[in-house]
Amino acid sequence: MQSLLYGSLPGFSLGLAAAAPKHAAVMSSVLRPVTYTDDAVEYLDQRRLPHEVSYEHARSVDEIVAAITTLAVRGAPCIGVFGAYGVALLRSRINDEAVFLAAAKRVRDARPTAVNLAWAVDRVLASPDMLTEAHAIAREQVAMDAAMADAGLDLIPKNARVLTHCNTGPMATAGGGTALGVVIAAALAGKKPIVFADETRPLLQGARLTTFECQLAGIDVTLQCDSAAAISMQRNAIDLVIVGADRIARNGDTANKIGTYGLAVLAAHHGIPFYVAAPRSTFDFAIASGDEIPIEERAASEVREFAGVASAPSDVAVYNPAFDVTPGHLVTAFITEYGVLRGPYAQSIADLASRPSFGALLR
Ligand code: MRU
Repeated sequence: MQSLLYGSLPGFSLGLAAAAPKHAAVMSSVLRPVTYTDDAVEYLDQRRLPHEVSYEHARSVDEIVAAITTLAVRGAPCIGVFGAYGVALLRSRINDEAVFLAAAKRVRDARPTAVNLAWAVDRVLASPDMLTEAHAIAREQVAMDAAMADAGLDLIPKNARVLTHCNTGPMATAGGGTALGVVIAAALAGKKPIVFADETRPLLQGARLTTFECQLAGIDVTLQCDSAAAISMQRNAIDLVIVGADRIARNGDTANKIGTYGLAVLAAHHGIPFYVAAPRSTFDFAIASGDEIPIEERAASEVREFAGVASAPSDVAVYNPAFDVTPGHLVTAFITEYGVLRGPYAQSIADLASRPSFGALLR
C-alpha cells in the first residue's frame, strides 16, 4: 500500500484555480481515483480521506466488489469506470467463460441504485476488446464532465451561494465531476462561487470529500449539518442547489444520496432553483418513473455508530437507505453533457435518449 499524508503531496497547497484551467487534469495529478495497471485496478481509498491519501490495488473479483460495496470507490460515474476496468482485468485473469461471467455479474450488481455501474459493465462485456472499451469509458467520462461543466456555467451567477449534497467532484466520477464539477468550472471562470456543503450523514461524503475538493480547488466552502439546510435557505443564505444523481427515470425522477429529496422540497418551498448535473449514462431510459429505482439499504452499524464509536443502543432498529428519489417536477433543470434539459421531462429526456453516444461524437 502506498500511503501519503496529503499535506506532503507536491503541489497540494496550490488552489486549482491558480494552478491551471483544466481542473480535471490538475485534480487527477494530485488524486487518482482509478488507474488501470497491468495486473490490478488501482484506486484511491476514499474512506480514508481527508486525513490520508492512500492507494490500494484490486486484483480479484472479491477485491473489486469489496472496493465498491465498502465505498472505498464511490460516486455513480466513478464506480462505472472502476467496474469497467475491473471486468476488463477479470477477463485477462479468468479463462473459464462461466466463471468469468459470474464474476462480471457480481461486479455489475455490487451496488444496485447507480445505473452507471451496470451500464459500464454491460458496455465492456459487449465489446470484443474489453480493456480498450474500459479506457474509452474512462476517457469519455473526462470529456463528458467537461461538457457538463460548460453547459452548467451559465446557471451559476457570479458570487452565487451554492448548496450541495454528498460528493460529486472529481473523485465521484474519475473526471472533473458532475455537480461540483460545474461549481469548480464556475470558480475557474472567476465567478467566485461560495459552497455550502451538507455533511451527508451517515458516511459524511460531503464533510470528508466535498470540503476537501473545494479546498483543493481554492473554493470558499462552509460545512453544515444536513439538518441546517432548512435554516440556511430560510435565512436567504443559498441562491441555488446543485446535486448529482445515481439514476434518473424517463419522467425526471432522480435517485441521489439520501437527503436530496428533502433539499428539493425545501428549495421549492423557498423558491430556490434546484439543479441536477448528470451524464446521459445516469439516465435509465428503460424506466418510466422513480418507483422502479431499487434503493440500496446499508448496514445498521453505519447509523448506530459514528466513526466506529457507538452512538445509539446497539440493538435499536435502523432504517438506512443510501438514496432517495426526488420527483422530477421538483428539478428546475438537468445539466448534461448534451446541454441543459428543461421540463416537460418526458419530452426532453426522450430527446436525450435519441442522441448519439458521446463516444461516437468524440471519435
Ligand atoms: O454512496 P455514494 O457516495 O456512492 O453516493 C454518491 C452520490 O449520491 C452522488 O451524488 C452521485 O453518485 C452522483 S456523483 C457524480
